[in-house]
Amino acid sequence: IDRLLKHYKSKAQKLIHQVLKTLALLLEKEKYDAEVKGRYKSLYSLYRKVQKKGKKSVLNLNDIFAFRVILNTSRPEDCFEALNLFHDRFTPIADLFKDYITIPKINGYQSLHTGLKQVIPDLDLPIEVQIRTKFMNDFAEHGLAAHWLYAHDKETKLVTEKEAKLLHHFSDLSSEQERHHVIFFSYVGDLFKMEKGTSVLSFAT
Ligand code: GTP
Ligand code: MG
Repeated sequence: IDRLLKHYKSKAQKLIHQVLKTLALLLEKEKYDAEVKGRYKSLYSLYRKVQKKGKKSVLNLNDIFAFRVILNTSRPEDCFEALNLFHDRFTPIADLFKDYITIPKINGYQSLHTGLKQVIPDLDLPIEVQIRTKFMNDFAEHGLAAHWLYAHDKETKLVTEKEAKLLHHFSDLSSEQERHHVIFFSYVGDLFKMEKGTSVLSFAT
């Protein structure tokens, strides 16, 4: 894998920088307040993914270079507008488009994913672009859809109905009152809400 990608790896920083600049400029021109990040997939992740997806060659992976656009907005509509901007300007790959905003993943993860070709002339590989609002990003990084949980849960594809409920509850937690409570599952999996400071013992009694 390393040998096949040597060419890209050696230029990765430069390529990422160029793509970041291209995407950021386009967004800026259309007056989007956005943060754009980019990464080159690590050798080990590449290896694992080739195995998992049963790809013949690492070059068939679509997210060797991946980018994330975090829009400083609370309007999900803005994500779709930014997506259109990219789809108009570059060449989208139909198979790679995923709308986890309209239909979030069961763990609550929300984002738009797309694959683009020919973003910069120097890069002959497609790139993956994820577009989300700041809230969606915080949820993906720190909420139930956080990567360590996501990667773990993917093995079994198990998010129980109760976990989904809890998730829903957390996303609604905004009032001051809710911050004074602890919400947890009992050992049989029932959902409980008790005063902040509650101990295992007070639950048992
Ligand atoms: P993987 O890349 O193996 O996950 O699968 P995929 O490319 O077939 O699917 P998908 O487009 O759904 O996910 C691609 C990327 O989206 C992942 O590498 C993550 O960066 C992100 N992603 C997808 N689902 C989740 C999630 O539940 N939580 C978080 N934090 N990120 C996710
Ligand atoms: Mg992917």
